Amino acid sequence: MTGKTLQRLLAACGLSLSLWNVPAFAAGDAAAGQIFFKRVCAMCHSTVAGKNMIGPSLAGVVGRTSGTAPGYTYSHAMANAHIVWSPETLDKYLTSPQAFVPGNKMPYAGIRDPNDRANVMAYLSTLK
Ligand code: HEC
Repeated sequence: MTGKTLQRLLAACGLSLSLWNVPAFAAGDAAAGQIFFKRVCAMCHSTVAGKNMIGPSLAGVVGRTSGTAPGYTYSHAMANAHIVWSPETLDKYLTSPQAFVPGNKMPYAGIRDPNDRANVMAYLSTLK
């Protein structure tokens, strides 16, 4: 075995070992979250600032107060909810939108899998 082959082998092992060590529920995987978002959320939500669709633009949503995307007409429930969107509040909202903000008009039942929620939140955190 040449030194180079050994190095490659070690690099390959290192990679798989580090993947193995990532705790499944830790931070969420933004790349997986983006794929989920495109499949499930993008029909109603743009990630471009100011581009509202059926739902408001989600550009910069993490850190934003609920119901404040410029130019979007919210339900009274959402307009008056005064929630600051953080990973914690988004997790609750996306688990069950109607339970967390009763009467809001997002026609979406919620994301059951905590992994999917963590991934989507990791992705939403990348949106400026
Ligand atoms: C069928 C359309 C639809 C789908 C699918 C949908 N949403 Fe929504 N979403 C809405 C609407 C409409 C609102 C506005 C709710 C209101 O005003 O009561 C909203 C509101 C929101 C808000 C609050 C935004 C703010 O400015 O306060 C967040 C966060 C959100 N959606 C995230 C998501 C995510 C993440 C997904 C995918 C898992 C998703 N939505 C899927 C239509 C949708």
